[in-house]
Amino acid sequence: MAARIGRALVTGASAGIGAAMARELAARDVEVVLVARRSERLSELSEQLPTNAEVLVADLADRAGRDLVAERLASADRPVDLLVNNAGLGIYGALASQDPDRIRALIDVNVTALVELTRAALPGLLAREVGGIINVGSTAGYLPGPYSAVYGATKAFVRSFTEAVSEEVRATPVHVLLLAPGVTRTEFQDVAGVPEGAFPAALTGTADQVARAALDAFAAQRPVCVPAAADRVVVYGSQVVPSRLTRRLRASVMRRFVA
Ligand SMILES: NC(=O)c1ccc[n+]([C@@H]2O[C@H](COP(=O)([O-])OP(=O)(O)OC[C@H]3O[C@@H](n4cnc5c(N)ncnc54)[C@H](OP(=O)(O)O)[C@@H]3O)[C@@H](O)[C@H]2O)c1
Repeated sequence: MAARIGRALVTGASAGIGAAMARELAARDVEVVLVARRSERLSELSEQLPTNAEVLVADLADRAGRDLVAERLASADRPVDLLVNNAGLGIYGALASQDPDRIRALIDVNVTALVELTRAALPGLLAREVGGIINVGSTAGYLPGPYSAVYGATKAFVRSFTEAVSEEVRATPVHVLLLAPGVTRTEFQDVAGVPEGAFPAALTGTADQVARAALDAFAAQRPVCVPAAADRVVVYGSQVVPSRLTRRLRASVMRRFVA
């Protein structure tokens, strides 16, 4: 990697894109700190990696869990050069029928944790003039998402927040990247309750492809990474086609699956 990255902390490392990111970082000779709730998964992964791996079990929907990870990021002992804010979850279906506690957890993990951990990591990175942050958004952050309204809005927040912070540090050696994957084959769809058939298999990428593209984009100091070409078309389209058309189209497609 172009930047001097010795150690990275990856949230949501027990599955999907986060686990792939940890494997890809270790393959690039980076030590990793693995964060998630499922400790056995993290221990299993840490044993498979070729570099040193630390396990930090934390629930990012809880303030105590977020504080634990924030303290680790701020620690001068075994400093973290790259934060990957990847942990996240979705909920599909009509807003009126969604569980308020799950909505709260989704916002706490996708937004509150991402902001607090970015804030915790930045001062040390700026002081040491090294590394940076990869925030995992989504192509869902580019379009209002009827029937995944809260999820899409959290990813729109991640996009806006990350692009803004990226600009704040642009003149420093610290780099901040927005990673915006499209549909990717992970546990995400099961956890979110995505209806069967809502996303054609041909449109889905793998977590390994996403992780490689993200780390290459970070090394190249790019501000945004949308890994798949088809998703880059969607992102471009979202900027030129009026939102009233794209949101209606999306609502009419999703209604077939969730009604
Ligand atoms: N898959 C897609 O289609 C897709 C597309 C665009 C963007 N993304 C984004 O990519 C990121 C990773 O998603 P994925 O597809 O890899 O999903 P995944 O396979 O379901 O993995 C989600 C990860 O987040 C962790 N997590 C969830 N809730 C947590 C909590 N309360 N505290 C700590 N960790 C928590 C999970 O760990 P534990 O359950 O062990 O805590 C798991 O490691 C998310 O931000 C997602 O929004 C995914």
